[in-house]
Amino acid sequence: MPLDSPLTDIERPDIERPRLLSGMQPSADSLHLGNYIGALLSWKALQETHDAFFFLADLHAITVPQDPAELRANTRRTMAQYIAAGIDPAKSTLFVQSHVPAHAELAWVLNTLTGFGEAARMTQFKDKAAKQGQEAASVGLFTYPILQAGDILLYQAVDVPVGEDQRQHIELTRDLATRFNSRFGDTFTVPKPYILKDTAKIFDLQNPGAKMSKSAESPTGLIWLLDEPKVTEKKIMRAVTDADGEVRFDREAKPGLANLLTLFAILGNRSIESVVEEFAGGGYGTLKKALAAIVVETVEPIRTRTLELLEDPAELDRILAANAEKANAVAEQTLATVYDRVGFLPPLRRHR
Ligand code: TYM
Repeated sequence: MPLDSPLTDIERPDIERPRLLSGMQPSADSLHLGNYIGALLSWKALQETHDAFFFLADLHAITVPQDPAELRANTRRTMAQYIAAGIDPAKSTLFVQSHVPAHAELAWVLNTLTGFGEAARMTQFKDKAAKQGQEAASVGLFTYPILQAGDILLYQAVDVPVGEDQRQHIELTRDLATRFNSRFGDTFTVPKPYILKDTAKIFDLQNPGAKMSKSAESPTGLIWLLDEPKVTEKKIMRAVTDADGEVRFDREAKPGLANLLTLFAILGNRSIESVVEEFAGGGYGTLKKALAAIVVETVEPIRTRTLELLEDPAELDRILAANAEKANAVAEQTLATVYDRVGFLPPLRRHR
């Protein structure tokens, strides 16, 4: 840091309680079982041991077209699902990305450090752009991972709990942090992805070669957290398996069944081997029925609680406003250091 810098050294996360950050896009009216297992389950556990920041990635959501009224409603609905799934706003900082202007501001600086070819290698961009057609894809979709890097680096996060599909974005974040630090001096914590092996990827029930995703071709391949129990049961009973009828775990040869066994093991809190052992003699129908009961048991309290929370939107907004203040305090400090290090003249007074 230059000798005449007005800034004190940047805040470092407490070693005892490492800083953690993660978020989801509020781009559907319900989260799905992949989001729950890949992210929310570990968020809930990690908030006990970490200084956790969880946010609603509305800036990311608009990288594909959104209806404004729906986006607003989905942002509150997603926030309600975080809380209903066990994220406690008294323990964790729960906020909306657009309430913290520093996200967009840091993303700009990081854009200038990212190679065009480096961004073009991001597989999620390539997949999404292919779905929309290259010409229709926005520049925002292209720079999505750089905004994500900014989200993480602003909070000096050490751990970033996400599903396997986000690994490449966390790697880019690490590269950008290291690049900035070596060019401008030690500024950012270099984060680690926190990806649980067994829960890292949940597959589509109708198309078990693809991850469960809101942009799936058929709505019957996804379990929405806000689905009615009857709908959930039906989707599981109709899940695609295979013709040989033998209950054993084989990801390559029997991907549909492997996905069901994985779901059973995670939600039933037991090993895949013990599930296989229990159902080895029976047909797939028995396994599916038992799995449907476990999924409904997990998801139904979340659905009920979400609907209750949504009856008081003013309370949700109050929580978000209080948490935005906490998030802004941390983010502004990192951004001020970044602006100083890259050589921006300090403003005489802050404009916000
Ligand atoms: P989003 O909304 O697409 O996904 C939210 C989280 O759900 C996980 N996930 C899955 N996990 C297992 N199996 C699946 N089928 C499945 N589908 C989704 C994702 O890995 C993710 O953890 N880019 C992020 C949002 C984001 C973010 C961040 C995350 C923006 N900035 C900073 C962490 C840190 C995303 O994919 O959201």
